[in-house]
Amino acid sequence: MFYLCTSIFIPNLVEKETIYILAIESSCDDTSAAVLRNDKVISNVVSTQKIHEEYGGVVPELASRAHQQNIVPVVHQALLRANIDKKQLSAIAFTRGPGLMGSLLVGTSFAKSLALGLDIPLIDVNHMQAHILAHFIAEEKNTKPEFPFLAMTISGGHTQIVRVNDFFDMEILGETLDDAVGEAFDKSAKILGLPYPGGPLVDKFAQLGNPKKFPFPKPKVDGLNFSFSGLKTSILYFIQRETKTNPNFKEENLNDICASIQYTIINILMDKLKKAVKETGIRRVAIGGGVSANSGIRSALKNAEKKYGWSTYIPKFEYCTDNAAMIGIVGYHKYKQKAFASQDITAKARYIIQ
Ligand code: KG4
Ligand code: ZN
Repeated sequence: MFYLCTSIFIPNLVEKETIYILAIESSCDDTSAAVLRNDKVISNVVSTQKIHEEYGGVVPELASRAHQQNIVPVVHQALLRANIDKKQLSAIAFTRGPGLMGSLLVGTSFAKSLALGLDIPLIDVNHMQAHILAHFIAEEKNTKPEFPFLAMTISGGHTQIVRVNDFFDMEILGETLDDAVGEAFDKSAKILGLPYPGGPLVDKFAQLGNPKKFPFPKPKVDGLNFSFSGLKTSILYFIQRETKTNPNFKEENLNDICASIQYTIINILMDKLKKAVKETGIRRVAIGGGVSANSGIRSALKNAEKKYGWSTYIPKFEYCTDNAAMIGIVGYHKYKQKAFASQDITAKARYIIQ
């Protein structure tokens, strides 16, 4: 069950009809702030740090410094676009973890100070739980999953299959033993000479190529766990081998290579999802996290509705990659449960969902 702080700080708490949550996300390389009116998003501002592109991956120290520069203007923009004043806010929700410590500390310290200054409650949010609960953001065409459902979180830092019994009752059924699926996309892209983050580019080129041109091996991993490091190595050796005989191999076959990599990754994910559905008997399947923006996984899930009779839940693009709106929806549900954090709360780089 979810941990509720005992030494809570509930200043001026009155039952209000309308709850305004200001949410802050700073776990990796996106600084984001959102305002929610109850379960509706009224603003969601994301500032993606470009500085990491030239290094081929996120540099933690630079990420932390960029968050420090971005956080005030991003929060200001979110309030401006929501057209509300700070004084109307009911609570501040922030990402406590998991993520990069230096990045998390910026959002955590900012949220704590603002909550203290405004004399309103503070709500800590688990980032991975937020990727899952993003499905509960009120949207016109959105059907929310009924409990229990299966959620596959696929991001740059995580790959998990989670049984979601209730908002704050989640059980991890399987996870990656090494690289996350987003890393598999990004590292493959790097081998192909594509800039960071390569996932969206692999997706773009894959849509123009033949997915069966270059077969890559699928790992044999027990249960519902995943492994992606072997795939990365086999892609590396394959490219090195082919480039020896044809130095332009990568450039000449980019679309087919990307399509084949994406096809293999999607098959690995879908095999495990099918196994999870079989083992649990739960046919409601949701995805969340940056890789759920991928066209291959989105169409594989849609096909599974017809093929296997599943009900599937795919987030809107803006709620796939890191954003504060998903932090806000968790904030809203915790607010209703009065699950507030105390001012002595700290960020948590490793933070397992429960
Ligand atoms: O959830 P997210 O924004 O950050 C983390 O919590 O890690 O996920 C970022 C990851 C990156 O690895 C990025 O390459 C991947 O999501 N990604 C994609 C696509 N869009 C983002 N991977 C494959 N296809 C995409 N369209
Ligand atoms: Zn994420």
